[in-house]
Amino acid sequence: MTEQEVWDMVQSYAYAAELVLRAGFDGVEIHGANGWQIQQFFSAATNLRHDYWGGSLEKRMRFPLAIVDAIDEMRRKHHRPDFIIGYRFSPEEPGEQGITMKEMLALVDALLEKPLQYLHISLWDFYKKVRRGADTNLTRMQVVHDRINGRLPFFGSGNLYTADDMLKAYQTGWVESVSIGKSIMLNPNLVDLIENGREAEIQTTFDWDNADFYHTNSVLFWS
Ligand SMILES: Cc1cc2nc3c(=O)[nH]c(=O)nc-3n(C[C@H](O)[C@H](O)[C@H](O)COP(=O)(O)O)c2cc1C
Repeated sequence: MTEQEVWDMVQSYAYAAELVLRAGFDGVEIHGANGWQIQQFFSAATNLRHDYWGGSLEKRMRFPLAIVDAIDEMRRKHHRPDFIIGYRFSPEEPGEQGITMKEMLALVDALLEKPLQYLHISLWDFYKKVRRGADTNLTRMQVVHDRINGRLPFFGSGNLYTADDMLKAYQTGWVESVSIGKSIMLNPNLVDLIENGREAEIQTTFDWDNADFYHTNSVLFWS
């Protein structure tokens, strides 16, 4: 991609968010996680550019930050300060050039300067400890939460299936809210089960005899 094509891509994110706003949603979550395009620009393992968009940590941050700015500008154009913008990220990558916690904390600092409404970590294990670049005795959630220091609400996910799992994660004090992936796929009525004291009915494993049920629901949740 040329430098200009990257700017065009930034505008594409803003256009996608504009469609979401016009469709009546309350907000968007910028997907800076899970190895997709935004993370690829941030990571030295994948961003090999030596232009405006890469070559140093500061330059690798430009793509994610430009997307936040472009979506905020779109929101202002529509006079919709209430439209929520969140940012989701995966805090670390393996490999010598992969994202370190130190780099991620630098991005968190920069994101905190932006008009975002929340930050969100995508993890497979809520309790996963730091790999490198910060205190490895601490969990990633704790380190990022400490850095945010109350300036924005922070959401976290990772293998939280039951009501007890969610409560325990919340009570660590490392997140203002938990987010749920697989448990919702297994229990499309999860909120209803918890609200009505039916926690014992929460499914935590996939039931092959009931595969059609999941297919129907996974299409609903992931399409
Ligand atoms: C089938 C599947 C698809 C996923 N797709 C996405 C996705 O498109 N975007 C995203 O941010 N996370 C995605 N995730 C990650 C989840 O959002 C979540 O971070 C992860 O599954 C850990 O939470 P959980 O243990 O509650 O599922 C996906 C997870 C699964 C299992």
